[in-house]
Amino acid sequence: MIQVEHLHKAYPIDGKQFKAVDDVNLTIKQGEFLSILGHSGSGKTTLLNLIGGLTKPNSGTVKIDNQDIWQLSDSELSELRNEKMNFIFQFSSLIPTLNVVDNVLLPATFGKAKKTDLYDTAVELLEMMGLANKLRAYPSQLSGGQQRRVAICRAFINNPTIILADEPTGDLDEETEKEVLNLFRSFNEKKKTTFLIVTHSSDLAGKTDRQFRMTSGRLESL
Ligand SMILES: Nc1ncnc2c1ncn2[C@@H]1O[C@H](COP(=O)(O)OP(=O)(O)O)[C@@H](O)[C@H]1O
Ligand SMILES: [Mg+2]
Repeated sequence: MIQVEHLHKAYPIDGKQFKAVDDVNLTIKQGEFLSILGHSGSGKTTLLNLIGGLTKPNSGTVKIDNQDIWQLSDSELSELRNEKMNFIFQFSSLIPTLNVVDNVLLPATFGKAKKTDLYDTAVELLEMMGLANKLRAYPSQLSGGQQRRVAICRAFINNPTIILADEPTGDLDEETEKEVLNLFRSFNEKKKTTFLIVTHSSDLAGKTDRQFRMTSGRLESL
Protein backbone atom coordinates (compact mmCIF):
# COMPACT_ATOMS: atom_id res chain seq x y z
CA MET A 1 0.00 0.00 0.00
CA ILE A 2 2.94 2.35 0.66
CA GLN A 3 6.00 1.95 -1.54
CA VAL A 4 9.03 4.16 -1.08
CA GLU A 5 11.92 3.84 -3.52
CA HIS A 6 15.34 5.52 -3.46
CA LEU A 7 14.02 8.51 -1.59
CA HIS A 8 16.41 11.44 -1.09
CA LYS A 9 15.92 14.74 0.66
CA ALA A 10 18.72 17.21 1.31
CA TYR A 11 18.66 20.67 2.88
CA PRO A 12 21.19 23.33 1.97
CA ILE A 13 23.24 24.19 5.06
CA ASP A 14 26.25 26.53 4.87
CA GLY A 15 26.38 26.13 1.10
CA LYS A 16 26.48 22.34 1.36
CA GLN A 17 23.72 19.80 0.88
CA PHE A 18 22.86 18.10 4.14
CA LYS A 19 21.26 14.69 3.53
CA ALA A 20 18.30 14.39 5.89
CA VAL A 21 16.89 11.33 4.10
CA ASP A 22 19.42 9.28 2.21
CA ASP A 23 18.32 6.60 -0.27
CA VAL A 24 15.44 5.19 1.75
CA ASN A 25 13.49 2.17 0.52
CA LEU A 26 10.45 0.88 2.36
CA THR A 27 7.38 -1.19 1.53
CA ILE A 28 4.42 -1.24 3.86
CA LYS A 29 1.43 -3.54 3.40
CA GLN A 30 -2.10 -2.65 4.34
CA GLY A 31 -2.79 -3.29 8.01
CA GLU A 32 0.84 -3.29 9.12
CA PHE A 33 1.79 -1.88 12.51
CA LEU A 34 5.35 -0.68 12.33
CA SER A 35 7.78 1.78 13.77
CA ILE A 36 10.91 3.71 12.90
CA LEU A 37 13.28 4.21 15.79
CA GLY A 38 15.94 6.88 15.74
CA HIS A 39 17.70 9.63 17.63
CA SER A 40 16.70 13.24 17.36
CA GLY A 41 17.96 14.65 14.06
CA SER A 42 18.18 11.29 12.31
CA GLY A 43 15.59 12.27 9.69
CA LYS A 44 12.41 10.64 11.02
CA THR A 45 10.11 13.65 10.70
CA THR A 46 11.47 14.46 7.24
CA LEU A 47 10.79 10.90 6.08
CA LEU A 48 7.26 10.95 7.48
CA ASN A 49 6.54 14.27 5.76
CA LEU A 50 7.87 12.88 2.48
CA ILE A 51 5.65 9.80 2.76
CA GLY A 52 2.64 11.94 3.63
CA GLY A 53 3.19 14.27 0.70
CA LEU A 54 3.95 17.33 2.81
CA THR A 55 7.56 17.64 1.64
CA LYS A 56 8.73 17.08 -1.92
CA PRO A 57 11.72 14.73 -2.31
CA ASN A 58 14.82 15.66 -4.33
CA SER A 59 14.57 12.28 -5.99
CA GLY A 60 12.90 8.92 -5.55
CA THR A 61 9.25 7.96 -5.43
CA VAL A 62 6.45 7.54 -2.91
CA LYS A 63 3.56 5.41 -4.10
CA ILE A 64 0.29 5.03 -2.23
CA ASP A 65 -1.85 2.23 -3.68
CA ASN A 66 0.46 2.17 -6.73
CA GLN A 67 -0.06 5.88 -7.36
CA ASP A 68 3.05 8.06 -7.43
CA ILE A 69 1.89 10.89 -5.18
CA TRP A 70 4.05 13.53 -6.88
CA GLN A 71 2.37 12.81 -10.22
CA LEU A 72 -0.90 14.00 -8.70
CA SER A 73 -2.23 17.53 -8.99
CA ASP A 74 -2.37 19.62 -5.81
CA SER A 75 -6.08 19.00 -5.41
CA GLU A 76 -5.72 15.25 -6.02
CA LEU A 77 -2.92 15.12 -3.46
CA SER A 78 -4.92 16.94 -0.82
CA GLU A 79 -7.88 14.67 -1.55
CA LEU A 80 -5.62 11.65 -1.04
CA ARG A 81 -4.40 13.10 2.25
CA ASN A 82 -7.93 13.83 3.35
CA GLU A 83 -9.34 10.44 2.51
CA LYS A 84 -6.56 7.98 3.19
CA MET A 85 -3.89 9.40 5.43
CA ASN A 86 -3.82 11.17 8.68
CA PHE A 87 -0.97 12.69 10.57
CA ILE A 88 -0.37 12.82 14.27
CA PHE A 89 2.22 15.57 14.36
CA GLN A 90 5.07 15.79 16.82
CA PHE A 91 3.90 19.23 17.88
CA SER A 92 0.19 19.05 17.22
CA SER A 93 -1.86 22.10 17.90
CA LEU A 94 -5.54 22.34 18.63
CA ILE A 95 -7.69 25.29 17.60
CA PRO A 96 -7.90 27.42 20.76
CA THR A 97 -11.38 28.80 20.01
CA LEU A 98 -12.96 25.38 19.52
CA ASN A 99 -13.91 23.06 22.35
CA VAL A 100 -12.60 19.50 22.58
CA VAL A 101 -15.38 17.80 20.59
CA ASP A 102 -15.29 20.42 17.85
CA ASN A 103 -11.51 20.08 17.58
CA VAL A 104 -11.91 16.34 17.04
CA LEU A 105 -14.66 16.96 14.45
CA LEU A 106 -12.60 19.53 12.55
CA PRO A 107 -11.17 17.22 9.83
CA ALA A 108 -14.68 15.90 9.19
CA THR A 109 -15.86 19.34 8.14
CA PHE A 110 -13.58 19.06 5.09
CA GLY A 111 -14.64 15.50 4.27
CA LYS A 112 -17.76 14.00 2.81
CA ALA A 113 -19.41 12.71 5.96
CA LYS A 114 -21.73 15.05 7.78
CA LYS A 115 -20.44 16.44 11.02
CA THR A 116 -23.56 15.42 12.92
CA ASP A 117 -23.10 11.79 11.87
CA LEU A 118 -19.71 11.77 13.49
CA TYR A 119 -20.53 13.40 16.80
CA ASP A 120 -21.06 10.03 18.50
CA THR A 121 -17.79 8.74 17.06
CA ALA A 122 -15.94 11.76 18.42
CA VAL A 123 -17.39 11.23 21.89
CA GLU A 124 -16.57 7.53 21.76
CA LEU A 125 -12.94 8.26 20.84
CA LEU A 126 -12.61 10.83 23.59
CA GLU A 127 -14.08 8.40 26.10
CA MET A 128 -11.54 5.78 25.06
CA MET A 129 -8.81 8.34 25.78
CA GLY A 130 -10.21 9.11 29.24
CA LEU A 131 -11.54 12.53 28.28
CA ALA A 132 -15.26 11.97 28.76
CA ASN A 133 -15.48 14.82 31.28
CA LYS A 134 -13.65 17.29 29.02
CA LEU A 135 -15.91 17.31 25.97
CA ARG A 136 -16.82 21.00 26.28
CA ALA A 137 -13.47 22.18 27.63
CA TYR A 138 -11.24 24.49 25.60
CA PRO A 139 -7.60 23.57 24.84
CA SER A 140 -6.25 26.17 27.28
CA GLN A 141 -8.11 24.36 30.07
CA LEU A 142 -6.31 21.09 29.38
CA SER A 143 -2.89 19.80 30.35
CA GLY A 144 -0.31 19.18 27.62
CA GLY A 145 -0.93 15.45 27.76
CA GLN A 146 -4.69 15.91 27.50
CA GLN A 147 -4.25 18.18 24.47
CA ARG A 148 -2.07 15.52 22.91
CA ARG A 149 -4.80 12.92 23.43
CA VAL A 150 -7.40 15.18 21.81
CA ALA A 151 -5.09 15.59 18.81
CA ILE A 152 -4.79 11.80 18.63
CA CYS A 153 -8.58 11.40 18.63
CA ARG A 154 -8.79 13.99 15.86
CA ALA A 155 -6.56 11.83 13.64
CA PHE A 156 -9.11 9.00 13.75
CA ILE A 157 -12.33 10.87 13.01
CA ASN A 158 -12.16 10.41 9.23
CA ASN A 159 -11.52 6.69 9.61
CA PRO A 160 -8.18 6.90 7.76
CA THR A 161 -6.57 3.83 6.23
CA ILE A 162 -3.07 5.07 7.09
CA ILE A 163 -1.90 6.82 10.25
CA LEU A 164 1.49 8.52 10.18
CA ALA A 165 2.38 9.28 13.78
CA ASP A 166 5.38 11.42 14.73
CA GLU A 167 6.43 10.81 18.34
CA PRO A 168 2.75 10.30 19.27
CA THR A 169 3.45 9.61 22.92
CA GLY A 170 6.36 12.01 23.30
CA ASP A 171 5.09 13.96 26.30
CA LEU A 172 2.75 11.39 27.83
CA ASP A 173 3.21 9.40 31.02
CA GLU A 174 3.50 5.63 30.90
CA GLU A 175 -0.14 4.95 31.70
CA THR A 176 -1.39 7.29 28.96
CA GLU A 177 1.14 5.91 26.51
CA LYS A 178 -0.40 2.51 27.11
CA GLU A 179 -3.90 3.86 26.44
CA VAL A 180 -2.76 5.48 23.20
CA LEU A 181 -1.13 2.27 22.06
CA ASN A 182 -4.29 0.33 22.93
CA LEU A 183 -6.33 2.75 20.82
CA PHE A 184 -3.90 2.31 17.91
CA ARG A 185 -4.04 -1.46 18.26
CA SER A 186 -7.81 -1.61 18.35
CA PHE A 187 -8.02 0.39 15.09
CA ASN A 188 -5.31 -1.77 13.60
CA GLU A 189 -7.17 -4.95 14.49
CA LYS A 190 -10.76 -3.90 13.86
CA LYS A 191 -10.33 -1.65 10.84
CA LYS A 192 -7.01 -2.84 9.43
CA THR A 193 -5.64 0.69 9.77
CA THR A 194 -1.98 0.85 8.75
CA PHE A 195 0.32 2.46 11.29
CA LEU A 196 3.72 4.00 10.75
CA ILE A 197 4.98 5.27 14.10
CA VAL A 198 8.14 7.30 14.41
CA THR A 199 9.76 7.38 17.83
CA HIS A 200 12.99 7.74 19.79
CA SER A 201 11.66 5.30 22.41
CA SER A 202 12.86 1.74 21.98
CA ASP A 203 10.17 0.76 24.47
CA LEU A 204 7.41 2.00 22.18
CA ALA A 205 9.10 0.60 19.08
CA GLY A 206 9.32 -2.78 20.79
CA LYS A 207 5.53 -2.92 20.96
CA THR A 208 5.10 -2.74 17.18
CA ASP A 209 5.16 -5.69 14.79
CA ARG A 210 8.04 -4.59 12.57
CA GLN A 211 10.84 -2.18 13.39
CA PHE A 212 13.28 -0.05 11.47
CA ARG A 213 16.11 2.11 12.64
CA MET A 214 17.00 5.47 11.17
CA THR A 215 20.58 6.72 11.45
CA SER A 216 21.79 9.89 9.70
CA GLY A 217 19.07 9.64 7.08
CA ARG A 218 19.55 5.95 6.33
CA LEU A 219 16.96 3.31 7.13
CA GLU A 220 17.67 -0.25 8.13
CA SER A 221 15.37 -3.08 9.11
CA LEU A 222 15.73 -4.40 12.67
N1 LIG B 1 13.43 22.59 6.80
C1 LIG B 1 14.68 22.25 7.11
N2 LIG B 1 15.73 23.00 6.71
C2 LIG B 1 17.00 22.64 7.01
N3 LIG B 1 17.33 21.55 7.71
C3 LIG B 1 16.32 20.75 8.14
C4 LIG B 1 14.95 21.07 7.87
N4 LIG B 1 14.18 20.10 8.43
C5 LIG B 1 15.03 19.24 9.01
N5 LIG B 1 16.31 19.62 8.85
C6 LIG B 1 17.51 18.89 9.33
O1 LIG B 1 17.43 17.56 8.88
C7 LIG B 1 17.83 16.64 9.91
C8 LIG B 1 16.71 15.68 10.20
O2 LIG B 1 15.65 16.36 10.85
P1 LIG B 1 14.31 15.64 11.29
O3 LIG B 1 13.75 14.95 10.11
O4 LIG B 1 13.45 16.64 11.95
O5 LIG B 1 14.85 14.55 12.33
P2 LIG B 1 14.11 13.82 13.54
O6 LIG B 1 12.64 13.92 13.33
O7 LIG B 1 14.63 12.41 13.49
O8 LIG B 1 14.54 14.51 14.79
C9 LIG B 1 18.23 17.52 11.09
O9 LIG B 1 19.63 17.66 11.10
C10 LIG B 1 17.55 18.83 10.85
O10 LIG B 1 18.26 19.89 11.39
MG1 LIG C 1 11.19 14.66 14.58
